[in-house]
Amino acid sequence: MAKGGGLTYALSVTILTCAFSLLPFHHTSAAAAVPEEFKIRQVTDGRNPTTTAHGGSNHHLLGTPAEHRFKSFIQEYNKEYSTREEYVHRLGVFVKNLLRAAEHQALDPTAVHGVTQFSDLTSEEFERMYMGVKGGDRTSLLREFGSHAPPMEVKDLPNSFDWREKGAVTDVKMQGSCGSCWAFSTTGSIEGANFIATGKLLNLSEQQLVDCDNTCDKKDRKACDSGCRGGLMTNAYKYLIEAGGIEEEDSYPYTGKRGECKFSPDKVAVKVSNFTNIPIDEQQIAAYLVNHGPLAVGLNAVFMQTYIGGVSCPLICGKRWVNHGVLLVGYGSKGFSILRLSNQPYWIIKNSWGKRWGENGYYKLCRGHGMCGMNTMVSAVMTQTS
Ligand SMILES: *[C@@H]1O[C@H](CO)[C@@H](O)[C@H](O)[C@H]1NC(C)=O
Ligand SMILES: *[C@@H]1O[C@H](CO)[C@@H](O)[C@H](O)[C@H]1NC(C)=O
Repeated sequence: MAKGGGLTYALSVTILTCAFSLLPFHHTSAAAAVPEEFKIRQVTDGRNPTTTAHGGSNHHLLGTPAEHRFKSFIQEYNKEYSTREEYVHRLGVFVKNLLRAAEHQALDPTAVHGVTQFSDLTSEEFERMYMGVKGGDRTSLLREFGSHAPPMEVKDLPNSFDWREKGAVTDVKMQGSCGSCWAFSTTGSIEGANFIATGKLLNLSEQQLVDCDNTCDKKDRKACDSGCRGGLMTNAYKYLIEAGGIEEEDSYPYTGKRGECKFSPDKVAVKVSNFTNIPIDEQQIAAYLVNHGPLAVGLNAVFMQTYIGGVSCPLICGKRWVNHGVLLVGYGSKGFSILRLSNQPYWIIKNSWGKRWGENGYYKLCRGHGMCGMNTMVSAVMTQTS
């Protein structure tokens, strides 16, 4: 942590690979919440049931209630498996993910965890599909652009706030099997800043960033933007300042794969002039959100693979492994009631996994605890109005 103007800023830089970290949860409290049928399966599954490429050890799951749930899942998400072996293998993976969701549920009682569209992917596959292997050293965030933001007045902040209601947020998008979350977080913040400056909401091009941006962090040369293999929002702002701006989605549409750069400067829709890093104090983050617009945020996404709804407020969520880029669009203080945390204030976070994920594509995360490191990599962008 560094001090600047009396405020504390996070110092760590890691490239956001959009991955799920897989912390082994072996808590007694979590185990207690696992339904009996799945507990038994886990034991009989043996040591590494999902690492086998074939259905092999999962045949005993056929005809169980778990297979019944798997069939509903297949129907709901239109899944297709080419062979019987693949089917049996995916069934084993699905059952493992049911266990994981139950573990998450026990650790995160104010949210609802369960089956999502990712429930047939192993953790390894999920990481491979949504990430690269880049990992940066933890160094300073200071750069020529994007210096630290000065403190803001926090006294008169509203109790709740939502940029969606003001028309500053585009529809939830879908990154697909590409670790490009950082590009969606970047476009989201620019879409908001541009709306606030001009009154026009535009969908901006993630693909331009995926194809064209190779910017590396100034202090950490290994933390470079690299398409579907990860990146950083602050690097992306730097790229856009240098490139001359960003195109609209329509002129440079998303493909979900890295391709040749087709950026043309004469199609620029929005110009980026500067950006700024926001302090880790969540009151400051709220003040910047309200006064500036939606903010690009990095967080640890471990609880997001199984998230269905509610306010996520896990008992443990590593703050240091920030691996996913999202967009902070608002906050609230009520809206759910569960157990001990009946009126937990929360952040409203736009994700890029489509509208079928979470609460219509959004994630609610409890506020005031630096939860999942959401306060350590927050940035605001300035667009050029000419
Ligand atoms: C960028 O913004 C910061 C404030 O966050 C400011 O100090 C700096 O001068 C700005 N840089 C440019 C080039 O405008
Ligand atoms: C952004 O794109 C989506 C999907 O194509 C579309 O439904 C939506 O209307 C667009 N929003 C704006 C503001 O153009």
